[in-house]
Amino acid sequence: MVSFVNLIALAIALASPATAFPAHASLAGLPRDVLERIIPTLQLRQPGSPPGPLRFNGTKLVNDQQHPWKPPQDGDIRGPCPGLNTLASHGWLPRNGIATPAQIIDAVQEGFNMENTLAKFVTYAAHLVDGNLITDQLSIGSKTSKTGPNPPAPAIVGGLDTHSVLEGDASLTRADFFFGDNHSFNETLFDELVAFSNKYGAGKYNITVAAELRWQRIQDSIATNPTFSFVSPRYFTAYGEAAFPVNFFIDGRQGDGQLDLKVARGFFQDMRMPDDFYRASRPMSGDGVDIIANTHPVPPGRNVGGVNNYVPDPTSANFTTGCLAYQNFVNQTVRGLYPNPTGALIIALNTNLDFFYDGLGDATCQQVFPYGRD
Ligand code: HEM
Ligand SMILES: *[C@@H]1O[C@H](CO)[C@@H](O)[C@H](O)[C@H]1NC(C)=O
Ligand SMILES: *[C@@H]1O[C@H](CO)[C@@H](O)[C@H](O)[C@H]1NC(C)=O
Ligand SMILES: *[C@@H]1O[C@H](CO)[C@@H](O)[C@H](O)[C@H]1NC(C)=O
Ligand SMILES: *[C@@H]1O[C@H](CO)[C@@H](O)[C@H](O)[C@H]1NC(C)=O
Ligand SMILES: *[C@@H]1O[C@H](CO)[C@@H](O)[C@H](O)[C@H]1NC(C)=O
Ligand SMILES: *[C@@H]1O[C@H](CO)[C@@H](O)[C@H](O)[C@H]1NC(C)=O
Repeated sequence: MVSFVNLIALAIALASPATAFPAHASLAGLPRDVLERIIPTLQLRQPGSPPGPLRFNGTKLVNDQQHPWKPPQDGDIRGPCPGLNTLASHGWLPRNGIATPAQIIDAVQEGFNMENTLAKFVTYAAHLVDGNLITDQLSIGSKTSKTGPNPPAPAIVGGLDTHSVLEGDASLTRADFFFGDNHSFNETLFDELVAFSNKYGAGKYNITVAAELRWQRIQDSIATNPTFSFVSPRYFTAYGEAAFPVNFFIDGRQGDGQLDLKVARGFFQDMRMPDDFYRASRPMSGDGVDIIANTHPVPPGRNVGGVNNYVPDPTSANFTTGCLAYQNFVNQTVRGLYPNPTGALIIALNTNLDFFYDGLGDATCQQVFPYGRD
């Protein structure tokens, strides 16, 4: 499962020893001899404990004096997630777009009132596949932003753009990887979101709109993307992300489930909270996902042999087999990226796998230990 980005990482790793391997680049998928050369050059940082729930979990001003919006500077990293991009552009996350998992959990909780177990689950899932487990750093994208007059230095590796694990096809406002740019805001796709909001939401984005748009984006990909893949874990994030704008981008004092489209554009395109923005009024997670998934049920699957041939994949987890999603993620996705870890890497994997299991918040689902128990 060595992806294109890993090949770039490999190329960097094999280049002159003077070229330092970036502290936020993922080690996933690198061959053992390369890992053995890189890891001693990195500064080992013990993962911080996952932050607990917010002490004050009500609404509050989050576009405040300490967190003004600033456009990204050359070299700052932004990626496919409008939530994390916005937190970085307001300084709830480091503005350069590189953070520890604990910083990300703190930021999504403080800035958007994301519920603690969901924040942990999503963050450690991302960190395990896209982060650097030795330095405990994760970048929120793979591209430096292009804001200055001169194009910035070429993209660094890895980060949340890594295709098909969490980043995936049929996004709302980002094109499929097959079409090239899978992480930037896409005006054509945002126009579709607007058209659907006008048609099904009287000019607002709400859960009814989300259900129709999620279905439409799947149909778009089935019809146009011969490599369309829609299996776990991407399957789940695709539904979650359709509900997130309703749950997190609406002012906590409004809380009526109807997202204004100018506000939506601010988050999706400009990575910017409205002036005087208050976060959600209670810890939020996947409210509305069940409605979205049940309005137009689609089994996990993929196009096989070309467009318009969507074939369900019965081996993928689905909404009735959540524990399998966790176990497959660990046994297949993580294990596939790290087949033979040694030393500090095993310890870091096991620690982060424990944090990830904790974020599942389901004691009836058995923890799996692909690298043994410590
Ligand atoms: C907790 C840590 C988080 C991680 C690791 C994360 C990661 C991601 C990733 C990898 C994607 C891209 C998936 C794709 O291909 O479409 C994404 C999309 C998205 N995220 Fe996040 N996210 C996090 C938190 C949040 C929060 C707090 C919000 C809302 C405030 C949010 C809102 C969204 C939305 C709306 C999308 C869909 C974008 C689109 O389809 O155009 N995320 N996220
Ligand atoms: C929010 O805080 C209140 C008061 O401390 C607490 O009773 C409640 O359980 C918290 N809600 C969540 C979802 O953590
Ligand atoms: C996502 O797209 C960018 C190009 O815009 C590419 O550099 C990156 O590798 C892609 N993600 C993949 C292939 O994992
Ligand atoms: C935006 O998305 C559409 C639909 O997927 C695609 O055809 C188009 O090439 C994308 N535009 C850019 C600039 O990536
Ligand atoms: C979305 O908006 C439409 C139009 O106002 C309304 O009929 C529908 O009930 C709304 N859905 C939700 C979940 O608020
Ligand atoms: C979910 O997957 C299981 C097998 O893993 C299958 O038995 C079940 O029918 C699927 N459920 C749905 C709703 O597709
Ligand atoms: C995961 O792997 C462990 C050990 O490698 C094995 O015991 C377990 O049955 C696997 N579980 C699943 C669901 O694949």
